[in-house]
Amino acid sequence: RIAYVNGRYIEQRQAGVNIEDRGYQFGDGIYEVVHLHGGRFIDEERHLARLERSLREIRLPMPMSRLALRHVLAEVARRNRVTEGLLYMQVTRGVARRDHAFPNPEVPPALVVTVKRIPPYPNSVDRWGARAITMPDLRWARRDIKSINLLPNCLARQAAREQGAIEAILYDEATGMVTEGAATNFWIVDAEGTIRTRQLDHVILPGCTRGALMAEMQAAGLRFEEREFSLEEARNAREAFLTSATSFVKPILALDGKPVGDGKVGPVVRQLFDLFARHMK
Ligand code: PDD
Repeated sequence: RIAYVNGRYIEQRQAGVNIEDRGYQFGDGIYEVVHLHGGRFIDEERHLARLERSLREIRLPMPMSRLALRHVLAEVARRNRVTEGLLYMQVTRGVARRDHAFPNPEVPPALVVTVKRIPPYPNSVDRWGARAITMPDLRWARRDIKSINLLPNCLARQAAREQGAIEAILYDEATGMVTEGAATNFWIVDAEGTIRTRQLDHVILPGCTRGALMAEMQAAGLRFEEREFSLEEARNAREAFLTSATSFVKPILALDGKPVGDGKVGPVVRQLFDLFARHMK
């Protein structure tokens, strides 16, 4: 496997970062994960726009122009001969003697890009359903920034795995309102039949898949609401699903071991899965 590391394409086994990289020491960096399907990057512009925004929010410059970065991403996929996979890119505030404040004088940001092969997108939603658990959301107050600080997310995912589930749906402990999944956005079809996901603010990540699915729903004349909902509403939902670059549109059939609706893939999720499958063609 070939990785891009700070201007060079090198054998991944031999790739390494400096032990004083601020990403390694402080989690001082930003990342993106892009789905590669049929040799194309899905929603590439959305991911690059979000990368630029995240970097701006933590006052880190783009390591190169958007055009040059697109070239690097394509080159990593090409050199690894991956057409179905996940591309990972990470920008950190570079290497400097340990000090919480930014390096002064400034040092160049560090850019790493890797790709891994994954099985192709399933063509039937019936094999795509999964279970989730619920957990308090323990993350910081700026979850709209795609920061590489992912400790609470890792702990939540591990808890899910230990309970035979694929995702942890997080909720605000004070209000009981659902935020999102540990690495996904969460949606329900509520008891009235309305498709809902939480509104965007600092509390959740503005998912690229979420945004792309909304654009497709609008184009198809499907109604949805960006309005937060409680854990209680999620438990009483007719249907539930996740979106992310890694899960596309994924039915959630059980929450904490109890079926969502009748515990089978519902008609709305089925329709949205097909809608997103067409979006990826
Ligand atoms: N996670 N919310 C969180 C907290 C996420 O980490 C992600 C993505 C999403 C969905 O965003 P998108 O649709 O742009 O993938 C929502 C990536 C896939 C990851 O951490 O691996």
